[in-house]
Formats: sequence, C-alpha cells, structure tokens
Amino acid sequence: MKLLAIAALFAGAVSGLATSHVIPGAHIIPAKETNVLRKLGAHGQKYPDRRTVTIRSSKNDTDDISDDFLWGIKKANHGGRLLLQKHKKYVIGKKLDLTFLDNIEVQLDGELKFTDDIDYWQANNFYYSFQKSITFWRWGGKNIKIFGHGTLNGNGQAWYDAFSGAEILDPDNTFYRPILFLTENATGISVEGITQLNSPCWTNFFVQSKDVSFDNVFINAYSTNISSLPKNTDGFDSLNVDGLSVTNTRIDIGDDCFSPKPNTSNIFVQNLWCNNTHGVSMGSIGQYAGQLDYIEHAYIENVTLLNGQNGARLKAWAGQDVGYGRINNITYRNIHIENTDAPVVLDQCYFNVDAEECAAYPSAVNFTNIVFDNIYGTSSGKNKKVVVDLTCSPNAVCSNIKLSNIDLTSPAGSPPEIVCDGIQGDIGVDCISSNSTSS
Ligand SMILES: *[C@@H]1O[C@H](CO)[C@@H](O)[C@H](O)[C@H]1NC(C)=O
Ligand SMILES: *[C@@H]1O[C@H](CO)[C@@H](O)[C@H](O)[C@H]1NC(C)=O
Ligand SMILES: *[C@@H]1O[C@H](CO)[C@@H](O)[C@H](O)[C@H]1NC(C)=O
Ligand SMILES: *[C@@H]1O[C@H](CO)[C@@H](O)[C@H](O)[C@H]1NC(C)=O
Ligand SMILES: *[C@@H]1O[C@H](CO)[C@@H](O)[C@H](O)[C@H]1NC(C)=O
Ligand SMILES: *[C@@H]1O[C@H](CO)[C@@H](O)[C@H](O)[C@H]1NC(C)=O
Ligand SMILES: *[C@@H]1O[C@H](CO)[C@@H](O)[C@H](O)[C@H]1NC(C)=O
Ligand SMILES: *[C@@H]1O[C@H](CO)[C@@H](O)[C@H](O)[C@H]1NC(C)=O
Ligand SMILES: *[C@@H]1O[C@H](CO)[C@@H](O)[C@H](O)[C@H]1NC(C)=O
Repeated sequence: MKLLAIAALFAGAVSGLATSHVIPGAHIIPAKETNVLRKLGAHGQKYPDRRTVTIRSSKNDTDDISDDFLWGIKKANHGGRLLLQKHKKYVIGKKLDLTFLDNIEVQLDGELKFTDDIDYWQANNFYYSFQKSITFWRWGGKNIKIFGHGTLNGNGQAWYDAFSGAEILDPDNTFYRPILFLTENATGISVEGITQLNSPCWTNFFVQSKDVSFDNVFINAYSTNISSLPKNTDGFDSLNVDGLSVTNTRIDIGDDCFSPKPNTSNIFVQNLWCNNTHGVSMGSIGQYAGQLDYIEHAYIENVTLLNGQNGARLKAWAGQDVGYGRINNITYRNIHIENTDAPVVLDQCYFNVDAEECAAYPSAVNFTNIVFDNIYGTSSGKNKKVVVDLTCSPNAVCSNIKLSNIDLTSPAGSPPEIVCDGIQGDIGVDCISSNSTSS
C-alpha cells in the first residue's frame, strides 16, 4: 500500500518532466512536490526545497553506481539537489571528475563508499605532484554545498594492510593511496554534518580553491588490524587556498588534525576537537627546491588536543634542495592540550632530515607575528620537562612571537620548561636555551 502510494506520487511528480530522460531507479522530483520530498527526507532541511534527484543505491560493496552518481550530479547541477538517502549505500568504483559544478547541493544521508580495488585505483586516479597525492575524484566549480548526516567512507582497511611498513615521504615510495575528498578550482564549497570515515590517505585536500568551509563534521580512521594502522590520514590539507574555515569538528586520526600547506591564507578554526593526532600544524612548507611558500592570516580558537604527538605546531623543511617562505600572522587562542608529546612547537627541521643536514642547510622559512594565548593542559612527559619548544633556524627570521597565559605542565617534573632559541625579541614569558634544559 505504502509503496504504491509513493510510486503514485513519483508518477505524478515525474510526469511533468516527461521530456527529461531518467535512468532506471532514478527520479527527479520538482521542488514544489513537498510531500514527496518530505517522504524522502529532503524537505525541512537547512536549505529550502529544490529540484531533487535520487538514484538507485548499491546492492552490495561491489555494485558500482558511479555512472548513476555522475548522472545524478549532472541532473542536480544548476540549482538542484542530489539526495543520497538514509540507510542506503552508494558504491563508487570509478574515478570521477566533478569539476563542472555550479550551484548544486548534495544531501548525503546514506553512505557513499569507495571500492577497495587497489589495482584499479592505482591505475585510475587524479594525480597531484605535491607530495605525490592521488584521489578517487575531484570536486570543482562554484557554489557547492554538501550536507546531511551520512558517511563518506574511504574503505581504507585494504589500503592500510597493503601500505603497512611503507612511508609516504620516502622518495622511493610508489604505493600511492587515494585522498577521500579533494577540491580543485572550487569557489564557495561547504561541507556540513557528515562523517568522513577511514580515508586510505589524507581525508581532505583542497587545491587551488577559494572559500572552503567545513562545519560539524566528524573525521575518523581506524584499523581492525593491529599490525597495520591507518597512516597519513590527515584531517585537512590545502595548497594554494584562500579562505579555509573549519568549525565544530571532531577528528580522531593518527596524523595531522589540521595542517594547511603551501600558500594558504585566511584560515579560521573554531571549536575543533582532536584525539590521537599530530596536532594543529601550520605547514609543513618550504619542501620544494627554489619555491616560495607561505601560510598567512590564521585564527585558531578553542581547540582540544588529546593524546597526540603535537599540539600547536609550526613546521618547515630544512636540508639540501628545499624552498623558502614565511608563516605569518597566526594566532592560537584557548587551546586545551592533554597527554601530548610536544604541546607547542616550532620545528624547522621537519621530518626525517637529520640534525647535521639541517645545521648545514638551515631552513629559510620565516616565522613572524605569531600569538599563543591561553594554552593550557599537560604534556605526555616524552620531552621531559619541555612543554614549549621554539627553535628558530639560523637562516630565518623568527620575530614578534608572543606567548601569554601559558599553563602547561609536564608529568616529568616541574617547573615546566619553555625553550626559545634564535627568536628575536621578547616572547612574553621566561624561557631558556635548549642547551640548558634538564632533558
Ligand atoms: C553485487 O550486486 C551486483 C548487482 O546486483 C551483482 O551483479 C553481483 O553479483 C553482486 N556481488 C556479490 C558478491 O554479491
Ligand atoms: C594485517 O596487516 C598485516 C600487515 O600488512 C598483514 O600481513 C596481515 O595479513 C593483515 N591481517 C589481516 C587479518 O588482514
Ligand atoms: C584549474 O584551473 C587552472 C587554471 O585556470 C587550470 O590550469 C586547471 O586545468 C584547472 N583544473 C581543473 C581540474 O579544471
Ligand atoms: C569549545 O569547543 C568544544 C568542542 O571541542 C565545545 O563543546 C565548546 O562548547 C566550545 N566552547 C565555546 C566557548 O564555544
Ligand atoms: C581518544 O583516544 C583514546 C586512545 O588514545 C581512546 O581511548 C579514547 O576513547 C578517545 N576518546 C574519545 C572521546 O573518543
Ligand atoms: C606559492 O606561491 C608562490 C608565489 O605566488 C609561488 O611562486 C609558488 O610556486 C607557490 N607554491 C606552490 C607549492 O604552489
Ligand atoms: C591577521 O590575520 C587576521 C585573520 O586571522 C586578519 O583579520 C588581520 O587583518 C591580519 N593582520 C594583518 C596585519 O594582516
Ligand atoms: C625572511 O626575512 C628576511 C629578513 O627580514 C627577508 O629578507 C626575507 O625576504 C624574508 N623571507 C620571506 C620569504 O618573506
Ligand atoms: C649549545 O651549545 C653548543 C656547544 O656549547 C653551542 O655550539 C651552541 O651554539 C649552543 N646553542 C645554543 C642555541 O645556545
């Protein structure tokens, strides 16, 4: 009875669009069909009703609906909405170029899941030379909204198992893993409410984009195999992006929580929670020979960082054949850090470059106008009593770095130590050289 009623509603709704070809299992519902939209869960959302497109869902984890998805995106483009329904799974098994978007909404209430066919994805993807990144799909264009209570699932387990023991930044590594969500040439893209689960590699990467915002998102990556944990599943990375906002978001992954990369400006982070991460980092930048990189104008407020390697971190590369640049005008305010190895750290010898090479070829990335205000909690004690480590490269300028209301303790003993080497001017609190720490 109920099915018949819905079918009748569809018949009525679709009849007005008789000229529009609709693929099997799909429907296009005009915005005025409030009752149909309500039944589908698409009415009464945050945004006003729109022409809404539905597509068939997958029967199992290999039932690839990527052709239907692409069809649905095209039908919803220019003012409509693609609805991916609650309790339904949509499996993507082919790479998708979605860079033609203009005024579209995607309501993700179900699960959008990628296949874990490693051979296929390693032969078919979009490649970015920056840190040899690949992705399943790319989103671009303008005025794009993705919202709902559903899940974007990277199906990462097979990738975690296969990558086990390898290292992403190893120059010889050729085992590339896809990024879960990537924008390129996107202007005005927002993502709200969804969960991003088990990305094979970085969770989000924004390339050459403007005004990207995430609100109320949950990012999680876990492995069911103790000998192959997720790696490099960063929450947020960016390259050449102006305008990046992340608010009310929770992240539990084993790498950077939030880490804008070269040429990111106007960054806003508020109410972020990070568990088990490598921290909220600016960078790394200055990795590539001869290139100027910058990160500028960031305001980071009310962040909780638990059980991590780092809390608030600024990072740049040193060594032969690296670049140069600046990290400028960054504020970290109201940051709660617990059980974290390096609660506040300026690292200009990033990654596995050894100390001698960093000393021979010091970083040429400047750090200027940096505020750390109201930073409180505890370290893990791994770096003994050191809770803040600001060590500037001799080949760079670190100036106007101001600390205030710092209340960090170490389980390794007190008083906690704040290291400042090579920083120009007064940092606002008492500090010591790394030579005189107790470690
Ligand atoms: C998955 O569903 C597709 C489409 O119905 C079907 O052809 C295929 O045999 C199914 N595969 C498995 C493993 O059940
Ligand atoms: C767990 O990961 C290891 C390392 O990749 C692999 O050898 C092993 O087969 C995996 N175990 C399972 C149950 O997949
Ligand atoms: C993005 O824009 C740049 C510059 O206009 C262009 O070179 C590049 O091909 C575009 N990328 C895509 C995926 O359209
Ligand atoms: C700070 O962020 C947490 C989430 O991590 C949130 O619960 C809390 O309400 C926020 N505090 C303020 C003052 O907004
Ligand atoms: C944070 O991570 C720890 C493991 O390090 C875990 O035991 C704990 O449940 C997590 N906290 C929450 C609130 O998920
Ligand atoms: C960053 O911007 C500078 C200056 O516009 C440019 O020279 C450099 O190539 C950019 N860096 C990257 C990694 O794109
Ligand atoms: C510093 O960045 C903030 C955004 O966080 C911006 O409002 C302010 O204008 C910037 N200051 C300067 C001097 O550029
Ligand atoms: C770093 O600071 C030095 C000294 O002020 C300056 O000459 C250089 O141009 C700065 N580098 C960048 C990339 O801003
Ligand atoms: C630390 O001590 C060594 C050896 O005495 C010295 O060469 C170096 O300049 C000192 N470093 C700082 C930052 O004071």
